[in-house]
Order: sequence, then C-alpha cells, then structure tokens
Amino acid sequence: MDYLLTVERLTKSFGGVMAVWDVSFKVQKGQLVGIIGPNGAGKTTLINLITGFVKPDKGKVIFKGEDITGLSPYKIAQKGIARSFQVVRPFLHLPSYKNLIIPLYSKRVKALRGGKYGDRDLVALDLLEDVGFEKDSSVPYKVASSLPHGYLKRLELARCLALRPELLILDELFSGMSMSEVAATMPIIEKLKEGGMTIIMVEHRLRELFRIADTVIVLNFGEKIAEGRPSEIIENELVKAAYLGAESA
Ligand SMILES: Nc1ncnc2c1ncn2[C@@H]1O[C@H](COP(=O)(O)OP(=O)(O)O)[C@@H](O)[C@H]1O
Ligand SMILES: [Mg+2]
Repeated sequence: MDYLLTVERLTKSFGGVMAVWDVSFKVQKGQLVGIIGPNGAGKTTLINLITGFVKPDKGKVIFKGEDITGLSPYKIAQKGIARSFQVVRPFLHLPSYKNLIIPLYSKRVKALRGGKYGDRDLVALDLLEDVGFEKDSSVPYKVASSLPHGYLKRLELARCLALRPELLILDELFSGMSMSEVAATMPIIEKLKEGGMTIIMVEHRLRELFRIADTVIVLNFGEKIAEGRPSEIIENELVKAAYLGAESA
C-alpha cells in the first residue's frame, strides 16, 4: 500500500503535559481522515508536529516516502503540505485577495506553473471565488479586517489551496462559522475530495465530519484511543466515554 503520509510514534510534552503521546497513523492518497477529541486532547499539537511548527520529542513524519521530521514549516509547506490555523491570522490591513500572495509567490507554485507565476491577482480572485467570495462583488477587495469570521475561515482555506497542496490539513475550519456557512463550505470540501485531494480535518462538527470522512482518529489526553470508519467510531465505547467525561468535567 502506498501512503502519502505516515506518522510514527509522535510524542511531545510541554513541561509536565503529554500533549501528544506515541501517536501513529497512515493516510492514503485521496483519503479524508478526521481527527476528533475533547478540548486539549492534542489535535492542534499533532498538526503542529506534522507541519513543523513544533518539534517532536520522539517519532517520525514521513511524507511521500521522505522523512520530513523537524524540517521548518516553510520547507514542509514547499513539499506540498498546507495547513489552516484554528485561530485565523490574516494580514488584516490587506485586501482579501492580497492575502494569498505569499503562497502564490512561492517556489512551489512557480515550479508547478512551469517557471511562471502568471497574473497572481487573477489566480487569487479565482481561488477566492472557489470558496465563495464572488468576483463580481466587492468582497474579495475588502480589507481582511472588515470580513465576518466565517469569511476569514474560508480565506484560510483559499490560502491553503493557493499553495497547490498534495495534503491539506484543516484545523477546525468550521469553528466560528454559522450553520449556513458550514453548509456552503461542505460542498467545497467534497469537491476537493472528488478531485483527489488528500485531506486531514480536525473538527468539532462531528455530524458534518462523519458524513465526509473515510476514517476517523480519536485523541484523548494526547493518545490515539480509536481509529476506524465513522460508523465504527460512533459506536465506540471508549469514544463515548471520552466525550461524556469531557462534558461532565
Ligand atoms: N505551546 C504550548 N505550551 C504549553 N502547553 C501547550 C502548548 N500547546 C499545547 N499545549 C498543551 O497541550 C495540550 C494539547 O493542546 P492542543 O494540542 O491545543 O489540544 P486540542 O487542539 O486537541 O484542543 C493542552 O493541555 C495544551 O494546554
Ligand atoms: Mg486545537
């Protein structure tokens, strides 16, 4: 079996807190893998470990057969892993479409475009249109600071797509979105998946996630406590206990 990503026994503690403990999993090309777990379970840290924002104490990250453990976030992005941030941090003073400039000027995009960047503003406007910023409206031209939160989350998604990733990692993309924004964003994710994109989604909106995920990984106190198809995860007693425990805590 050919895996796009292999995570081997990743471990990271902060002081006394075991944020991620001995987590292993594999992702096949074209799969959508969900990662769930109560607050503080280590989901964001796991993403930070994969994307180079945090260095592991132990363990390995293999992407396309290459050991990328400990590389800088920039290098990992250039290899084709794009990640969104749970807490968005756009360039607030720039028009939305200008927020895509950094990935659009990257070496990776230049190489993928045959040595040419082309008209990046047009590419940016197209990418934004794909996530629901209508080109004919004023929205793509508005400064990011004036956009509602749901738009900023979709701007995050567009920023990731601008890199032309092979692996897209989304950290709670739906959080802070209204029901209608989630409903409008679901088809975008589905379309990416149909196009063959490999996606890891950390998500609290389980109903939506379980509809589109091929497999789901459950973290609790930094440990992987379950992995399986959504239908299996829903029935899993450990998972139920982890969520109930978190609610009553
Ligand atoms: N940079 C950090 N410094 C200290 N503790 C951290 C840091 N990042 C995360 N943690 C701790 O690690 C644990 C897992 O956090 P996190 O990965 O953000 O969980 P999740 O995304 O599942 O809510 C929490 O206890 C959190 O407080
Ligand atoms: Mg998190």
